[in-house]
Amino acid sequence: HGSYNQKIDYVFKIVLIGDSAVGKSQLLARFSRDEFNVDSKATIGVEFQTKTLDIDHKTVKAQVWDTAGQERYRAVTSAYYRGALGALLVYDITKRESFDHMARLIGNKSDLGSLRAVSTEDAKEFAQSQNVFFMETSALEATNVEPAFVSVLTEIY
Ligand code: GTP
Ligand code: MG
Repeated sequence: HGSYNQKIDYVFKIVLIGDSAVGKSQLLARFSRDEFNVDSKATIGVEFQTKTLDIDHKTVKAQVWDTAGQERYRAVTSAYYRGALGALLVYDITKRESFDHMARLIGNKSDLGSLRAVSTEDAKEFAQSQNVFFMETSALEATNVEPAFVSVLTEIY
């Protein structure tokens, strides 16, 4: 049924960027397949997943590139930013340095509130000063994952 013959109005390439272990791959697993894997392995190079969704009555196919956060893959991954119409820059709310490395913001692991090292206020203030979108997510609890992706897709559209 349905999806087989689905008419696609737009294909948008977006990339996930951020330090290793902030949860980029699990955000994408949650978004594309509604899955979460506790034993997530570090991404090697670049992987991608697609998800088709309706935005403003248009059928949008999101082609999401998930890059490796580990330093040694940096040269490879940056090549994949080309042609991307948007990016989600992800940090881990329990790792201060993963936030300091960011230019714009998805604060992941919002379920780990007791270990929080980056306050929502700090992140909000920074995002406002840079005029960028900000949202906290949890791939684990499936909190705000779709809205985070939809926000970047809507901005493109
Ligand atoms: P690289 O591929 O090395 O760049 O890492 P990554 O950013 O893709 O991280 P990944 O998605 O593999 O997740 C790293 C670890 O964080 C894994 O143990 C996940 O289970 C865990 N994790 C990811 N998202 C969440 C979340 O929302 N909450 C909690 N508590 N843990 C999470
Ligand atoms: Mg990964």
